[in-house]
Amino acid sequence: MKNELILVLDFGGQYKELIAQVVRELSVYAEIRAGSMAAEEVWRLRPIGIILTGGPGSVNRPDAPRCDPGLFALGIPILGICYGMQLMCHMLGGEVMAGGQEAGTTASSGGEYSRVQDAEKTLSFYGEYGRIKVTPTNPAKDPFLALMSHGDAVRVLPPGFVATAHTTSCIAACEDGQRQLYGLQFHPETKHTEGGREILRQFLFDVCHAAGDYKHEDIIESSIEKIRATVGGQRVLLALSGGVDSSVCAALLAKAVPGQLVCIFVDHGFMRAGEGDEVEAVFSQRKLHFIRVDAGQRFLKALHGVTEPEEKRRRIGEEFIRVFEEEAKKLGNIPFLAQGTIYPDVVESGAGAGATIKSHHNVGGLPDEMSFEGVIEPLAGLFKDEVRLLGRRLGLPQTLTKRQPFPGPGLAIRIIGAVTEEKLDIVRAADKIVREELGKIRPVPDQYFAVLTDTYAVGVKGDERSYDPVVAIRAVRTDDFMTCEYVPLPHRVLGRMSARIMAEVAGVGRVVYDITPKPPGTVEWE
Ligand code: XMP
Repeated sequence: MKNELILVLDFGGQYKELIAQVVRELSVYAEIRAGSMAAEEVWRLRPIGIILTGGPGSVNRPDAPRCDPGLFALGIPILGICYGMQLMCHMLGGEVMAGGQEAGTTASSGGEYSRVQDAEKTLSFYGEYGRIKVTPTNPAKDPFLALMSHGDAVRVLPPGFVATAHTTSCIAACEDGQRQLYGLQFHPETKHTEGGREILRQFLFDVCHAAGDYKHEDIIESSIEKIRATVGGQRVLLALSGGVDSSVCAALLAKAVPGQLVCIFVDHGFMRAGEGDEVEAVFSQRKLHFIRVDAGQRFLKALHGVTEPEEKRRRIGEEFIRVFEEEAKKLGNIPFLAQGTIYPDVVESGAGAGATIKSHHNVGGLPDEMSFEGVIEPLAGLFKDEVRLLGRRLGLPQTLTKRQPFPGPGLAIRIIGAVTEEKLDIVRAADKIVREELGKIRPVPDQYFAVLTDTYAVGVKGDERSYDPVVAIRAVRTDDFMTCEYVPLPHRVLGRMSARIMAEVAGVGRVVYDITPKPPGTVEWE
């Protein structure tokens, strides 16, 4: 039996895979396709509903990605999220304003921004980023906090539409119930939107009348099948960092193609205190062909004087590949390189129509020329929590599956500006203290670390003037690492970390705490 289908049409949104994941978790099969898909093709697939994703575009620009206008006449329910809502409203005769434009000057019979009219004042719209209060127009419904991340907003709704919720500066939700067209300016798919999952559930079950016939297929079996089909009898070299993703990838490959796998751990010298030896200790005990390559000096040389974050990532990505190529050659030309790339790495590196946020070393940081015949990334469609689950099902210990993530480029992207051995020593020592202290609190934050900034601060140490760099502490709570909130740490914990860093790490001028959520920040500073 073929499952009911929800089509997720992609306009470059950072959360498209998350939308598909949440829909699938709600027992309805979802597939992501290009936003430009022709209406006839959509019709042939007979989806029970369509979701238009967000995206970095601006509908008033000529190069903005659009959908086939025929979609709106198919009689299939459509939910437009963020850019998807703006696009739908724009294409059906509404008006979208760009950030900075006056918001309260136009009226239309369809559903103009009523609060602006009521107040008879002019508002300017500057975009909304973060958790914003949304007030439903139905007074029986309570206001809620929703994740917003948009520079443009719908100013005038198309004929037939009404606003169903607003924030203090924009229309937050709208609908044309007759035509079953719905728009949300916020992101219901993230956990940062209160009741977001319920909103999606209502769309699926109340509007699209889904039966909920989809069961999460066994990812292990399907991944193993795919790996075997790609690799055949050939050997695979896995880039193993000891983090959750590459460890799960190792376990999966060891099950799929045992005896054909070589795991290479490249110690680039940007690991946390003691980490290189820990990784070696864990993996050399397992029944794996494990090789450690110490390449610290080589990476430091490749990064000499480089300050631009994307250039750092590119050089690290390239250096990694060169080391793997050399090792593959030594082992008699292994044709396949496997990596533990997960979905957020792909999205943020700007795959498809999305904007490049940062080139994760294993995606956007890869060089164009490589001697490998193929790159295998069995986890590239999964989120962190799905990868952890997979790891548990594959029998990996919790010490591995619950590890906080550590970026492939390591401490090099936690030093703002050029990387030197001295700075590595400082950030490594400060990070050790942060990890010791925050590892003790409950619940443990999902990710926590120290950053060495390139800002210097004057201080007084032992009656002497000092002028040293500022260390920033970051601690975040997140499920998917696509969004996060800072952890409101108790002041005594912050105070203890600051006191310890200032006393135990030479060359630190001051300690600050980063309280920026993602968006608009990111987890890492570079
Ligand atoms: P950002 O900074 O993009 O981080 O909000 C999201 C998550 O990804 C990790 N991260 C990386 N992981 N290679 C990786 O394997 C990378 O280049 C990279 N950059 C960021 C980051 O630590 C966080 O968990």
